[in-house]
Amino acid sequence: MSEGQLTSPPGTHDVLAPQSRAWEFLLATFADQAHRHGYGLVVSPMFEDVAVFHRGIGEASDVARKEMYTFTDRGDRTYALRPEGTASVVRAYVQHHPTPPWKAWYATPAFRYERPQAGRYRQHHQVGVEALGTDDPYMDVEVIALAWRFYQALGLRRVTLMVNSMGHDECRGHFVQRLTAHLEIRVTELCDEHAKVWSTNSLRVLDCKTEACRSVVQSGPTLAQSLCDACAHHFDVVTSGLDALEIPWVRNLNLVRGFDYYTRTTFEFAADALESAQNAIGGGGRYDKLAEDLGGEPTSGVGFGSGIERLLLALAAEDAERVAEIESRGVDVFVVDATGGREALVLADELRSAGVSVDRAFDGRSMKSQLKVADRSGAAWAVIIGSQELEAQVVTLRDLRATGEGDRQSAVPRADVVTRIVELLRKSEAL
Ligand code: HAM
Repeated sequence: MSEGQLTSPPGTHDVLAPQSRAWEFLLATFADQAHRHGYGLVVSPMFEDVAVFHRGIGEASDVARKEMYTFTDRGDRTYALRPEGTASVVRAYVQHHPTPPWKAWYATPAFRYERPQAGRYRQHHQVGVEALGTDDPYMDVEVIALAWRFYQALGLRRVTLMVNSMGHDECRGHFVQRLTAHLEIRVTELCDEHAKVWSTNSLRVLDCKTEACRSVVQSGPTLAQSLCDACAHHFDVVTSGLDALEIPWVRNLNLVRGFDYYTRTTFEFAADALESAQNAIGGGGRYDKLAEDLGGEPTSGVGFGSGIERLLLALAAEDAERVAEIESRGVDVFVVDATGGREALVLADELRSAGVSVDRAFDGRSMKSQLKVADRSGAAWAVIIGSQELEAQVVTLRDLRATGEGDRQSAVPRADVVTRIVELLRKSEAL
């Protein structure tokens, strides 16, 4: 690297083609699933009044205490870059009063000051949905099903869905009391971090990955024992709904998730092909108090977010060939014009108007060098225009994927080439 050259900050990445083709595929697949389930796109600011997150995800949460990018702007206001999507979307709901149930989907960067490593970044990206204005347990099922169908459509096969219920405030308070009493007895056995914070934030001990905390938690009280009848019923309807859709799930009694806003249903998806420390490819749950916490009317809500980088890591771990195939999907046609470039300009425009994706070379390169670029472009077909073709009012159509030399190329009248290519692409189901 030359002196003075600037690079992206630690824990952030530039995503360029061809890798970004997998991103395009993922985003299109998510948008398709969101539309199938009746969600509309929401776009909200990347930074918010810091209170949105303090009141939303909880000041005591790890993300708010240790990971938020907080700054004061020139107008002396304190903002934070969004560490997650839910609090902003609910703030937007409270501000604009859309008609409930309001079903919104998003694709967003999220910023967390974490220790960068594979699958853990300071800027990661999420796709997600939030459904506000109903506490119907079938909405929880629909949200989980959307995520599940999305993973299936991506081609992920080895995903485990874990579900749990936090109960509402009272159940949770009851559980926290019992858990705190249990931890107090076993405090000397906790890991260093949780030996310090167990009394103020006992729920965090539940998702600690150290052996020490896990064994203390294993012998402790469970959330299930603290659920009131209404919360237990809600959970039963959710899980029987998952059964009705044949979506496999397991109960994870320790699944509390990292934000304070969750009530009742919580869920997480683990990619079995990834290392366990970074195998959460998505997670979410219900948050029936969040709108009120942000100054709105009491409004139930449920949603999930899924990390794009982790989903792509999981896809590559399950089926690297498939990812390579997605990344190699180039344009349909590459136009090679050795007569100066004007012919390529016009033909490319005609093809694009007919729905064909086209690229071409620039800078008056030689025929040989343009053909090399055509080969590298991933295009299925090259259209070649040399001076002889121009004179005879034809083009040469070359199949770039054919292996033998045989009938690899043919002359096509210039006037027919767009129709011919559209036919060929339809036959190969590329159009
Ligand atoms: P979360 O579990 O914190 O939930 O994040 C959602 C997903 O984002 C994770 O499952 C993971 O795939 C990905 N992710 C999180 N942090 C990182 C990171 N540092 N690097 C790479 N990927 C990461 C939420 O954010 C909630 N807003 C989800 C939700 C929506 N709950 C209700 N509605």
